[in-house]
Amino acid sequence: MKQITANELREKYIEFFVSKGHKQISGASLIPENDPTVLFTTAGMHPLVPYLLGADHPAGKRLCDYQKCIRTGDIDSVGDPNHLTFFEMLGNWSLGDYFKEEMIEYSFEFMTKVLEIPVDKLSVTVFEGDDEVPRDTVAANKWESLGIPKERIYFMPREDNWWGPAGETGPCGPDSEMFIDTGREACGPDCKPGCHCGKYFEIWNDVFMGYRKEADGTYHEMDRKCIDTGMGIERTIAILQGKKSVYDTEVFQPIIKAIEGLSGKKYGENEEDDISIRIISDHVRTSVFILGDQKGMAPGNVGQGYILRRLIRRAVRHGKKIGIEGDFLSSLAEVVLSLYSAPYPELAEHKDFIFDELKKEEEKFSKTLVNGEKEFEKLLPNLLKGQSRVIGGRIAFKLYDTYGFPIELTEELAKEHGFTVDRKGFEEAFEKHQQISRAGAEQQFKGGLADHSEATTALHTATHLLHKALSVVLGGYVKQLGSNITAERLRFDFNHPQALTKEELKKVEDLVNEQIEKDLPVVCETMSLDEAKSQGAAAQFDAKYGEMVKVYSIGDFSKEVCGGPHVEHTAQLGHFRIVKEQSSSAGVRRIKAVLEH
Ligand code: ALA
Repeated sequence: MKQITANELREKYIEFFVSKGHKQISGASLIPENDPTVLFTTAGMHPLVPYLLGADHPAGKRLCDYQKCIRTGDIDSVGDPNHLTFFEMLGNWSLGDYFKEEMIEYSFEFMTKVLEIPVDKLSVTVFEGDDEVPRDTVAANKWESLGIPKERIYFMPREDNWWGPAGETGPCGPDSEMFIDTGREACGPDCKPGCHCGKYFEIWNDVFMGYRKEADGTYHEMDRKCIDTGMGIERTIAILQGKKSVYDTEVFQPIIKAIEGLSGKKYGENEEDDISIRIISDHVRTSVFILGDQKGMAPGNVGQGYILRRLIRRAVRHGKKIGIEGDFLSSLAEVVLSLYSAPYPELAEHKDFIFDELKKEEEKFSKTLVNGEKEFEKLLPNLLKGQSRVIGGRIAFKLYDTYGFPIELTEELAKEHGFTVDRKGFEEAFEKHQQISRAGAEQQFKGGLADHSEATTALHTATHLLHKALSVVLGGYVKQLGSNITAERLRFDFNHPQALTKEELKKVEDLVNEQIEKDLPVVCETMSLDEAKSQGAAAQFDAKYGEMVKVYSIGDFSKEVCGGPHVEHTAQLGHFRIVKEQSSSAGVRRIKAVLEH
């Protein structure tokens, strides 16, 4: 096999597909443009979803690129030799042009001729078929005709050989995955590609995108069939270089060397230190890519910002754990920048932002950490005296509340000492606390409304309509994060990863105005919070109202737990108009709207 670096693999892949009539396109931002169902771009096809579903791409029907991706599903697995949060994916696409057999020929040629992988090291899997989609004998026959013997072509079920959609809806289909046999001994008689014992490594996935998954969970066959493929760079070079782990390749070694220099530890000598070193290198690399993205995000408390905050904080904690003193993220970020600024020029463009934000977050968290860990150590002797190996929710909450210590870190610290944390108890303590601390806020809220005019009351009802309309247009995940009403306008903050399009804003406006025109009655009922929730009432400030709450319903359109007051019927509102839509903080949008008569 050819020893090949990440830079060479990127180049060779693009060169190969360009020679086959493909246009190289730029990779997209890590923050998905049109898919609020996921926080990050998770695959090369993700930014291409509209084109895979039928739109014309300006660059044509044959495309290729390299794409930055983040998969956060297993952040907690990072630390072992194989997991990464950030990775690069090479991909090529046919938008209704060539299909399965031609793609398999390309894959075979690239693997055996360009990468010089011996055929006898290759195995492939294909879809075995089920009630909905037939067994993929076309793919299997093609592989066989190219020289892969039958016994190394595995038919597998949907859970292994069906890919997509990337979010909750969109293009998907059966796939064929390609594996390299490392030559290691099989873990047992059932060991085959897909087994995680380390004998087989997947390097490439050809997806035959002929289906579309709808919001109701059904699949529809598409007339125009597409190809989507993905090859993970880090993983593929590790295998081609004969390395046991992605962390042993040239894209991680310089970062690891820098960590060794800072900590005085040697990678490969002690498993516990190695885990920390891998966590730090992965998390710093990912953080640099999120901060340095074309839509660069800062650490925050929701959405992408929260993931970023968790990554930075976990890296800092593991840095301290292996003995790094003082701030260190910036010096590691320098290494990441030097490794990746050529293929990703946006990183250098956002250099100042990257360093400033890392520094701020690191300083803030270092203080938290020192206090929180001290407190944990103080608690430990008592905990160890007890029978139980579960840390109570109230204790975890105190660490969070008093020292700002994130629950994930309490769990991690607990685990290191053989404990688990009562997460449910933590959440209960959290809610109870909110109930108490918000009682004061309610007084303020009520007092505030007391001197409010008809105008603010109407805007308050309009806020409920807006809240519901946003969740209809954008998705049920939309939650109120803040609201502020003056006599002139309402202001509403909610979670959503990107700016709303003109069309979305228009839809929201129209939907609100439709409800106004219907002149729906506004009805108030008093019930227990549980009852309100079971009736599906939105209750963002739930605990604030104590046990019995007021629930305002606007026709059948909206139902919310709320202190009121509200108008009696919606025609009193006049005409609703959005005057501004802007970002409020990372992952949070802000709408300002008025009522006109
Ligand atoms: N979209 C496919 C994957 O991510 C190629 O594996």
